[in-house]
Amino acid sequence: MADSKAPARVAWTTRSAFILAATGSAVGLGNIWKFPYMAGANGGGAFVAVYLLCIIMVGLPIMTAEVMLGRRGGMSPISSMRKLARDSGVSSRWAWVGGLGALSGFLLLTFYTVIGGWVLFYIAKMASGSLQGATTVEAQQALSDLLGNPWMVLAGHTLFMVMTLWVVGRGIHKGIERSARVLMPILFVLLIVLFGYAMTSPGFGEAVRFLFSFDFSKISGSSVIAAVGHSFFTLSIGLGAIMAYGAYMPRETINPRTGKRTPVSIGSTVLLVGVLDTVVALVAGLVIFPVVFAHGLAPGEGPGLLFVTLPVALSDVLGGMWVGTAFFVLVLCAAWTSSISIAEPPVAWLTEKGISRPKASLMVGAAAWVVGLGTVFSFNLGSGYTLFGMNFFELLDFVSVNIMLPLGGFLIAIFAGWVLKETHARKELNMKSFGIYMVWRAMVRIFSPLALVLLVVFSLWKALA
Ligand code: PFF
Ligand code: NA
Repeated sequence: MADSKAPARVAWTTRSAFILAATGSAVGLGNIWKFPYMAGANGGGAFVAVYLLCIIMVGLPIMTAEVMLGRRGGMSPISSMRKLARDSGVSSRWAWVGGLGALSGFLLLTFYTVIGGWVLFYIAKMASGSLQGATTVEAQQALSDLLGNPWMVLAGHTLFMVMTLWVVGRGIHKGIERSARVLMPILFVLLIVLFGYAMTSPGFGEAVRFLFSFDFSKISGSSVIAAVGHSFFTLSIGLGAIMAYGAYMPRETINPRTGKRTPVSIGSTVLLVGVLDTVVALVAGLVIFPVVFAHGLAPGEGPGLLFVTLPVALSDVLGGMWVGTAFFVLVLCAAWTSSISIAEPPVAWLTEKGISRPKASLMVGAAAWVVGLGTVFSFNLGSGYTLFGMNFFELLDFVSVNIMLPLGGFLIAIFAGWVLKETHARKELNMKSFGIYMVWRAMVRIFSPLALVLLVVFSLWKALA
């Protein structure tokens, strides 16, 4: 009934548009800000190894499942899940998986834009040269001055929220697709240049050893939990963002000149996006850690890592100011395309309720802005308020990323593997190789859910031991 009122299905203009938008979603603050500081705080190689294992065993199969469910459903995650549950003859309560996802996404959005706001300030700081010649202590001071000022943090949060919802409000083609086409190429060019620059740093070898030498004894319960959650966060899975983008993915593309039809394969597309995301995280680590070691800084610095080490590293080199500006512009491109995708599922859902896209964007943005005040203040006025030893930001980050996303991913795997009719899954994935299809199916039915359960049990055991 709702279906008959649904507007004609919108779709990405090309396969490459989906790849750019999905990569834009995946590559974000998670790769450039969070991954390095988490690896630094969780023993380097030990964390990286578990993280890579999670990407392969859990991340890629679930990402494939999400895009498949999205394309099959063709609507916002909530409505797609309801429709697919109905088609499969099970309770429409499965729509709650979409609802849980929209809620996790909403919570992520409220703090993602706060950190995005710091990035805006750092572009200005680098470009103005105010950090040229700064020592480590001075750079740390500059960061605490920024975070200690609630008005500044609030201004950044507000601006970033407006930038995000402005793009979402303009729609799939003029907003999301166009922004990805402009921002993603800039990101990749800047990253390659910075990587070349980092390879010449004296700390490069130590950074490689730090990130890739594996020491089992260094694995702790909390580092496993962190790695599981981060593998979901970094691939944008477990909350329906990639499902929402999958809904706009065409089944085939038609060449306008020859009229030739080419099927769009979900499997190979997802693999490409997953590999790009992983490569960007590792390269970002290889850009940041040489600097950390060459300047004798501590890798376990926490969320401030990116904002302190880079300015320090670049403070005494010729043209460092420009390299630094370029770097934070890169982080901005990454963060912006990601926050756009976090906001898409709730906005898409509201548009199905008959609300216009600009208005829906305004509603989501305003609500997320208000909840985001909690994060804004947890770096200054409210830093003394803690629960389980975590301030508001840390608690929100922990609950959404480490609990809600893995739970959402678990349910998505179960639905794709056990509930959805096998003929439907097979037809939608349309994989060339039956062998690969069977591997995927075994992964979502058994290995990924089991791996998630085992990882959680293992980390609890490690934590209690
Ligand atoms: N994948 C993004 C990152 O690594 O920064 C964060 C993210 C985007 C998470 C979109 C979830 C999401 F739906
Ligand atoms: Na990512």
